Amino acid sequence: MKSRINKRKKGSSKRRSFFISKKPSIAPLVVDPTFDSRKSDHLVLSLDGQTQTVQNRFIDRIHLKATAFPEINFSDVSVVTQFNGQQLSAPFFISSMTSGTALGEPINEAFALLSQEKQILMGVGSQRKELYSESAQAEWKRIRKKYPRSLLLSNLGLSQLITTPSDQVKKIIENLEAVGLIIHCNAMQECIQMEGTPNFQSGLKTIEKLVHELDVPVIVKEVGFGFSQADLVRLNQTGVYAVDFSGRGGTNWARIEALRYPKKSFQLDTGFVFSDWGYDIQEWVEFHDKESVSYQFWSSGGIRNGLDIAKMVSTGAYLVGMAQPWLKSLVIDMKKKKLNTENLFQFYDKTHKELKIALFGCGYANLDLFRKNKAFYVR
Ligand SMILES: Cc1cc2nc3c(=O)[nH]c(=O)nc-3n(C[C@H](O)[C@H](O)[C@H](O)COP(=O)(O)O)c2cc1C
Repeated sequence: MKSRINKRKKGSSKRRSFFISKKPSIAPLVVDPTFDSRKSDHLVLSLDGQTQTVQNRFIDRIHLKATAFPEINFSDVSVVTQFNGQQLSAPFFISSMTSGTALGEPINEAFALLSQEKQILMGVGSQRKELYSESAQAEWKRIRKKYPRSLLLSNLGLSQLITTPSDQVKKIIENLEAVGLIIHCNAMQECIQMEGTPNFQSGLKTIEKLVHELDVPVIVKEVGFGFSQADLVRLNQTGVYAVDFSGRGGTNWARIEALRYPKKSFQLDTGFVFSDWGYDIQEWVEFHDKESVSYQFWSSGGIRNGLDIAKMVSTGAYLVGMAQPWLKSLVIDMKKKKLNTENLFQFYDKTHKELKIALFGCGYANLDLFRKNKAFYVR
């Protein structure tokens, strides 16, 4: 573990208090003074191998029904898909990551460029800072102006949304000219996080209210702990457009928040106690009420290549997200803010090709039939 993060936090492991801005821009105006440093820690730690789950992953037990006789040509394979009437070049997207930090802006610019050039969806990182900071609003205005055809999805946490008036949420979506809103559920992360706000009372009611009051599709996601089968049923009653499972198997937020505490502290230990928490994609694969839910199922959490994406589509996923792999392909040196956008584009090409190879290897020319025929088995 890089000592930089732990050292900086020495003596600061107590929960910090939040305060009200004297010069508010948008209500509810609760300033989060640790936002920037926390988001920077997240970027650095997500690229640290020990925050990634690599063992006992259900996705590694999923296999595709390959054939020696595809009876099509590779050039016949198309992976284009749609989101709310908008054509996408692929069924995979950039999962919500960063925003509001100095480190974040060039990273988001690169992601927005990729989204624009390749017509894939990009979830932006939590826009919580826009609730009180004009500079955060300006940052997104700049990016939007530069990349007018990028397909951006807004992002706010459920615990913030519970106390945020719908008007403010609408403003944030409009400012970004977002094509949808992602609500992230992160109860476990908020508990481990030193500045966390684990307040989730009336969460489902809030989701339902927003679905009715907003003009854009609402997507609900986890951040790497997944949803139980009971949750998946309950979410159906809210009318959400899509549920992004974001399960265990990739970036682990209990470990990330734990590693922000001083070395050998009890708080660090508590984070690791919960590092195997939650559900992985097995929960979805074995979900018996699948056919009866009306939302689109999206999958993320531990998706690392085009074959993983194909596996998820075969289990019924409409869109598939990756977070950490995009960052890993882009960032050469986080400290020196050295990025390689060409590498990011090459990662897109690699992923796109792998997905096509997987479909071809199973004898499918498009995603619809591949998904419908459930071209997978578990071993
Ligand atoms: C650096 C970083 C920052 C993240 N910030 C957010 C966020 O602000 N909002 C959110 O919904 N998810 C956030 N996530 C979670 C991801 O969207 C995703 O759900 C999770 O990391 C699992 O995907 P992965 O295994 O592909 O990384 C973040 C992930 C990373 C790596």
